[in-house]
Amino acid sequence: MKITEAVFAGSSQYVKDKPKKKLPEFAFIGRSNVGKSSLINSLCGVNNLAHTSSTPGKTLLVNHFMVNGSWYLVDLPGYGYAKISRESRKRLDRINNEYINRSPELAILFVLLDSRHDIQKIDLEFLMNLGEARIPFAIIFTKGDKLGRNALQNQIEKNKKELLEYWEELPPVFVSSAQTHMGKEEILDYINTIINTHYNNHGSRAYD
Ligand code: GTP
Ligand code: MG
Repeated sequence: MKITEAVFAGSSQYVKDKPKKKLPEFAFIGRSNVGKSSLINSLCGVNNLAHTSSTPGKTLLVNHFMVNGSWYLVDLPGYGYAKISRESRKRLDRINNEYINRSPELAILFVLLDSRHDIQKIDLEFLMNLGEARIPFAIIFTKGDKLGRNALQNQIEKNKKELLEYWEELPPVFVSSAQTHMGKEEILDYINTIINTHYNNHGSRAYD
């Protein structure tokens, strides 16, 4: 699938304030600074569509981007950033929890994990909760350009094994880089398949 148009469609704190047009939503979540906003820009082929920063805690609201006039990419705030106040962290968790649990339009939640590191406790806990809440999700390892080929492959295998300690089978797993666009085609094709399989051309779920 090719993205021919991507436009900012609104920022919200509450689900009631999301863009009014109901279309399938593909959302990106993960620890602060993992590369959510950068990956959205890479997928859209637009540099500054979603705002990025080398300092964690950049995205503080739910940001919708309408793609090809027919679905949304959703950039969510990060979780687990230690250097903000307890109050701010609670607020971000509330925003994310409400979006995830009360958005019937959410088609797939992409959970982003840094490909350079072992999976952290906070990520495992987050994934466990998604499983329990039956939120459909996929995993994207980010910043794939930062390791050499072999090191990257080894770390991904290690992380997959770790996930298989908790789940019998893996969800869809992608390896990406916002810098080299690694994984871009695969992620867009996956989104396309979900849209074609689950949605009619009015954007509502046809079945399941
Ligand atoms: P918050 O909104 O703060 O939660 O962060 P985020 O997950 O949206 O991360 P963001 O996209 O802002 O990227 C954080 C930093 O990582 C920036 O300095 C990016 O340039 C860098 N970065 C993101 N993706 C990649 C990547 O694939 N490769 C490399 N080398 N750097 C990346
Ligand atoms: Mg961000």
